[in-house]
Amino acid sequence: MNSIKRLLQAAIIVAMGAVVTPATAQENRYTPTPENLQARREFADSKFGIFIHWGIYSMFAQGEWYLQNAEIDKAEYAKAADAFYPHRFDAKAWVAAIKEAGAKYICFTSRHHDSFSMWDTAESDYNIVDATPFGRDVIKELADECHKQGIKLHLYYSHLDWARDEYPMGRTGKKIIGRDTTKVDWPKYYDFMNRQLTELLTNYGEIGAIWFDGWWDHDEDSIAFDWQLQEQYAMIHRLQPQCLVGNNHHQVPFSGEDIQIFERDLPGENKAGLSGQDVSRLPLETCQTMNGMWGYKLIDQNYKSTETLIQYLVSAAGKGANLLMNVGPQPNGEIPAAALQRLKEMGEWTRANGETIYGTTAGDIPVQEWGVTTRKGERLFVHIMNLDSTELFLPLGCKVKKAFTYADKKPVKVKKTKGGVKLQFDEAPAGVDYIVELITK
Ligand code: GLC
Repeated sequence: MNSIKRLLQAAIIVAMGAVVTPATAQENRYTPTPENLQARREFADSKFGIFIHWGIYSMFAQGEWYLQNAEIDKAEYAKAADAFYPHRFDAKAWVAAIKEAGAKYICFTSRHHDSFSMWDTAESDYNIVDATPFGRDVIKELADECHKQGIKLHLYYSHLDWARDEYPMGRTGKKIIGRDTTKVDWPKYYDFMNRQLTELLTNYGEIGAIWFDGWWDHDEDSIAFDWQLQEQYAMIHRLQPQCLVGNNHHQVPFSGEDIQIFERDLPGENKAGLSGQDVSRLPLETCQTMNGMWGYKLIDQNYKSTETLIQYLVSAAGKGANLLMNVGPQPNGEIPAAALQRLKEMGEWTRANGETIYGTTAGDIPVQEWGVTTRKGERLFVHIMNLDSTELFLPLGCKVKKAFTYADKKPVKVKKTKGGVKLQFDEAPAGVDYIVELITK
């Protein structure tokens, strides 16, 4: 997208106070309900969620894109369902481990691109209850447990589908064997999705968000593909007004969306190549893998260290964004030990320092090489993650009344300088996140 168009979009976003795309600015102005606005605030305060990618793809242990990447026959792939028996699946243990980590919500893959539904859907037999010997509705078990343990449940839902013939094939999945393109029927597919979404929003209690993915499957069509998102989003908000709608389309938010999602990059950054879109004023969320893949992948043991994960959480908060950190449970239903270990260690950190993250907004200073800042009222938290000096200049517009280390409340020297203040330490701040609290006015 060229920069003028980007600027124009940004201007419209700011001017209207609600998010709209230029094309629909006139006819489609979405007004969120008070419940929805409240849910947005709670979401923005929550800062940390855990993403769970789990489906029959986990059995092949090659990530959730296996069907498309291996270019295999969809009917052969589907046979995995008949052997899916995750006897160690324990919703209570999952939710407890995730809560212990300090996460405030879980986003679970209800139906991924491979078309397999992880709940008892009446819209397709290709689901966990009808097609597997396991026969249990894992979304029901997860939802009940989330409600019981007081943590929100968000549901990932794939717009694209590599197995249903009525789905109009996009740029992925073309080499999957057994797709019949003569049966494409968009109205039928659209209806199927809406019926499934209705089930999810009717039978499982309160759902915190619907997290769409796959829009990009039609981002190269010569004639713009119409996903009919407006009606779908309106339906979701009708069924559950507080339910947040997010779409991992890698664009600025469309009308009807309540949060803005970034994939593998913090808002405004584009190291992974999927982001770079303008940052809106909606609550922000960045999703990231703990190793390299979303779904369980046997050979991918390249886990990020707990330190890196904590620093990612802090960096996201420094941008006012939530971190949605992924885990990919094994075919037996367990979260891999390496992931559990990291969740446990993140929990130790969030219990000690969560106050400087939850309920904060991005601090006064944009993200720096040395770290970030977060703010809560008159309290400004300076998160020093990478500083090789005993001095730190902060370009602050406000006055500093008090400064001390967050961990042990020891005073930190502050010198007023041109354009801000200078913090002075006896030794260069070390550790994962050396937090200095400033009381400002
Ligand atoms: C990408 C992938 C998908 C994954 C998602 C998570 O869109 O296609 O497999 O679920 O990212 O962010």
